[in-house]
Amino acid sequence: MDDPAACVWVRVMKATDLRDGAPTAVFPKGLPVLLIRGGDGEVRAFANRCPHMGCPLSRGSLDGHILRCPCHDWRFDTGTGAFLDAPEIRLPRYELKTSDGDIHINITKAAA
Ligand code: FES
Repeated sequence: MDDPAACVWVRVMKATDLRDGAPTAVFPKGLPVLLIRGGDGEVRAFANRCPHMGCPLSRGSLDGHILRCPCHDWRFDTGTGAFLDAPEIRLPRYELKTSDGDIHINITKAAA
């Protein structure tokens, strides 16, 4: 079990500033993180580096719940972070919460 005292929550933006269908890059304490609001309205935070060759996924395109990397077209499920052609490859995901209308990310560690 995680030690809550060890968690580092960093405010990154107002929740209302995150546009639907717009992958958004944020940098809590310099960490490259991708924010996406899914079709279900839930906001998710993933590492903003493609596992193929490291391109920033925030420059990719969204088609429904599929995020396409801008460099070589790898496609990811925005619900799970899974690479569609090999689901065992996943984008590391960060825990997030909304408090007082602001999005906060736990940068302590990402879940694969
Ligand atoms: S860097 Fe993303 S598909 Fe190649």
